[in-house]
Amino acid sequence: MFRTGIVAATLLLGVGVVAAAEDQVALTQTAMKSNLKNAIVLYDMTKGKTTYDQTAVDAALVGLEDVAKRFPSFFPESIKDKRPKGDYYASTKVWTQRADFEAHAATFAKVVGEAKTKVKDLDSLKTEFTAINDACLGCHETYRVKAH
Ligand code: HEC
Repeated sequence: MFRTGIVAATLLLGVGVVAAAEDQVALTQTAMKSNLKNAIVLYDMTKGKTTYDQTAVDAALVGLEDVAKRFPSFFPESIKDKRPKGDYYASTKVWTQRADFEAHAATFAKVVGEAKTKVKDLDSLKTEFTAINDACLGCHETYRVKAH
């Protein structure tokens, strides 16, 4: 009886850990999608698809900074080798080259922080968006893998 209890408890705990990892994968995916959404707001303005709007710029930069500052927390050890359903997943290098990955995250946070103080008009947005985009690409080059 006692033994059965322990086995059952262990099994339950195991399920809990798996569910937590799946939740984390979903959370991480949402954060990555938020990066895309905010980047598109800025990109569309730089291309003249939408008119320059300081309020929208500020909101997008706040959103990017929020994710940037917490970036390493979106990739805990528990989701290593877990693949989300989307088109991309994280390379295992996120965990095996952790210091470099975190350096990319720090660079991303830095350029977004700078953009927050510098972007005042379309020209400055164009300059700063290039720096932000380079930070996205610089990290993806090594740490993001295309699924198909
Ligand atoms: C420090 C590294 C890093 C930076 C900086 C970064 N990303 Fe990513 N990104 C990743 C990793 C790792 C993944 C794969 C994990 C995943 O898709 O859950 C990813 C996935 C994505 C995805 C795919 C999500 C999906 O639906 O599968 C998009 C879109 C994305 N990033 C956009 C951006 C944009 C836009 C920026 C810049 C504004 C950015 N990322 C900056 C590391 C980064």
